[in-house]
Amino acid sequence: MMITIDGPSGVGKGTIAKILAESLGFNYLDSGAMYRALALFADLHGITANGSDEKLKKLLIDLHIRFVDEDETQKVFVNTDDVTDDIRTSEISTLASQFAVNQIVRGVLKEMQRRIVKNKSYIAEGRDMGTYVFPDAKYKFYLDASPEIRANRRALQLKEILGVNINEQKVLKEINERDTLDMTRNICPLHPADDAVIINTSTLSIKEVVEKIQSIVKDDA
Ligand code: DC
Repeated sequence: MMITIDGPSGVGKGTIAKILAESLGFNYLDSGAMYRALALFADLHGITANGSDEKLKKLLIDLHIRFVDEDETQKVFVNTDDVTDDIRTSEISTLASQFAVNQIVRGVLKEMQRRIVKNKSYIAEGRDMGTYVFPDAKYKFYLDASPEIRANRRALQLKEILGVNINEQKVLKEINERDTLDMTRNICPLHPADDAVIINTSTLSIKEVVEKIQSIVKDDA
């Protein structure tokens, strides 16, 4: 069975999808990590998002992305390299959304994503999971919150992880830039699927969002 969770940057999709996957006994597909891994791989090989499509195609033949569950975390590998931490920088966030507008990139990752989930129960999280990659998913959710609320949550989360004060205005600027790229691109722009349940998380805790989704899928999962 397939459950998709889409929504903009910083809305808490990852956290919520991981908790749900754990509680329902599903696998978890972090499609954003694949865009990030591809961006890192391309960057290391000197390939830019607006460069030659031929070079990009050649490069993508050599790109193999794997997820490996280890204790509580999911590691991301590009070929034999563990890139779990390297793909989380803000430079890679920006590069990933630049590559995400490319049709070749989206086509290659869509095939990889479909191959990964084949015949298994998955919660797939990203921007186009319910709209383009898994249009037949049994349950589709779209999480939303204002850019200001997402920036505030992201800043608090980064402060907790890194232990330093974060410039919230800078985070807000990055979120607005990524929203624009994600929502206005010609191919697979971010929007809720027609049959998605839209959840505005602005005033909800993570636990409340998880419970809301659980109450909807409970008869099947
Ligand atoms: O969710 P994330 O921040 O890790 O995603 C990184 C970038 O990848 C995001 O800016 C847009 C892109 N992305 C996408 O276009 N489609 C997806 N299904 C997932 C991510």
